[in-house]
Amino acid sequence: MLELLMKRRSIRKYKPETVSEESLRKIMQAALLSPSSRGRNPWEFIVVQNKEVLQELGKCRHPKQAFLPDTPAAIVVLGDASLTDVWVEDCSIAMTIMQLEAETLGLGSCWIQIRNRMAQGEEQTSNDFVKELLHIPEQYEVLAILALGVPDEEKPGRMLEELQYSKIHNEEF
Ligand SMILES: Cc1cc2nc3c(=O)[nH]c(=O)nc-3n(C[C@H](O)[C@H](O)[C@H](O)COP(=O)(O)O)c2cc1C
Repeated sequence: MLELLMKRRSIRKYKPETVSEESLRKIMQAALLSPSSRGRNPWEFIVVQNKEVLQELGKCRHPKQAFLPDTPAAIVVLGDASLTDVWVEDCSIAMTIMQLEAETLGLGSCWIQIRNRMAQGEEQTSNDFVKELLHIPEQYEVLAILALGVPDEEKPGRMLEELQYSKIHNEEF
């Protein structure tokens, strides 16, 4: 696991090929295996591969997320805020687990923040923009989008010697 974590980097450039059905299935299975507070599983996932929708989805942020239209697949992660007050934590865990499963499958991924962000033009929240575009029912809030694809950029992994060990405190701060 540590080796996988050292290797993982955010990838924003992807080859045009589609993500295989098998990889997508495994990533979605990983998401559904995520732990959640009180096992309430407040998350829902929308897998988007339609080019036109991905093009539109690129406008979910200001300034726009330029790489999203060229991303082969995107998984929109939303939580039911009426089910639990910790849907943000639950959805974040699912996002991370999907990123790690993607990494094991040789796929690149990148988190695109939606919650607390504004859409292109800054007239609408990113949440409202995505909800409108994807016909998401009222009670859900969009946390983030996971961009996914076969990497078309290489980034160096991280070395254990370079970690910020000063962030770790013993017994008290
Ligand atoms: C909560 C969160 C929000 C992020 N939002 C964005 C985003 O909106 N757009 C983006 O390109 N990357 C986003 N990222 C990716 C970070 O920029 C990236 O993880 C960080 O710079 C460290 O780089 P690495 O992932 O390659 O280790 C986000 C990551 C996290 C964890």
